[in-house]
Amino acid sequence: MQAKLIEIQHQATEDLKKAQSVEKAEQIRVKYLGRKGLVNELIGKIPTLPLDQRASFGQLANKVKNELQQSFSEAIQQLSAVKTESFEEEFFDISLPGIRPPYGHKHPIVQTIDEIKEIFSKLGFAVAYGPEVETEYYNFEALNIPPDHPSRDDFDTFYLDDDVLLRSQTSTVQIHIMQKQSPPIRIIAPGKVFRPDTIDARHSSMFHQIEGLMVDEGVSFSDLKSVLTIFAMAFFGKDIKMRFRPSFFPFTEPSAEVDISCSICGGKGCSVCKGSGWVEILGAGMVDPNVFKAVGYDSEKYTGFAFGMGVERIAMLKHGIDDIRLFFENDLRFLSQF
Ligand code: DAH
Repeated sequence: MQAKLIEIQHQATEDLKKAQSVEKAEQIRVKYLGRKGLVNELIGKIPTLPLDQRASFGQLANKVKNELQQSFSEAIQQLSAVKTESFEEEFFDISLPGIRPPYGHKHPIVQTIDEIKEIFSKLGFAVAYGPEVETEYYNFEALNIPPDHPSRDDFDTFYLDDDVLLRSQTSTVQIHIMQKQSPPIRIIAPGKVFRPDTIDARHSSMFHQIEGLMVDEGVSFSDLKSVLTIFAMAFFGKDIKMRFRPSFFPFTEPSAEVDISCSICGGKGCSVCKGSGWVEILGAGMVDPNVFKAVGYDSEKYTGFAFGMGVERIAMLKHGIDDIRLFFENDLRFLSQF
């Protein structure tokens, strides 16, 4: 059995010399040194040897195993070095594109705000911002919503303190701007608003609004209509139809809710417009004289219009999105489509 072992070692060394690749060397290693390889096969026969020969054969077998193991590691190391060298020399193609890092882009809500800003900037509107934490005065009182006014319920509010709150509407920015500037005023004010609504497919406790305000001598309801019509056609497409429904807001008089023909079904009726063919996109109206009084404007001299729209709602209508939560879940499968 000793002679047989030596012969196996010799044979393994010869085979290994002929191996041209790591894969081949590995195959040969398994053949000789693997769990069911030729060396182990012989070792398995030790119990058949006479007692006095077993120990010395065991030692020899271990020695052979170690030597072979050593040769295989060296050979495999050498072969893999050769492989990378020649691969680099022969195949390195400097014209191959590199590994591209994944690019991010603006969030669809920011994209929508940008698009709306651009449309209004062509109509001469500047962009204004106001604080997200407000007092009751800016969120309500100056906007003609006194403490006991029932319409305060419509603007359900997160209070931080008795008088301090997270704004529930961007109409607050009207007041900040009019306190600082005199007419003429032409601004839009995008930003976050907060309401303690139960979150579902149409409600979120944080969402975005864009407020608009134009004040000057002789501004009329027809100016409001034309500005909003130009906006809707620029944003949703020339075929869009608009309608103004009489409504109530404390800070505008008269007030209107503005609908567009459903951009999903083209007005035929679908689940988004609940079969009516129309969807509401914003509230608007002529600035109430009481609001002018709060900021010290002369309501005999100046008139103005205001409007407010929900950005998520408008983005949903434009892209046919049926769940507002998609905007806030940070799921790249959704976001990367924009
Ligand atoms: N602030 C109102 C809201 O949050 C939206 C709104 C309606 C704004 C009419 C206006 C307006 O400026 O004239 O629901």
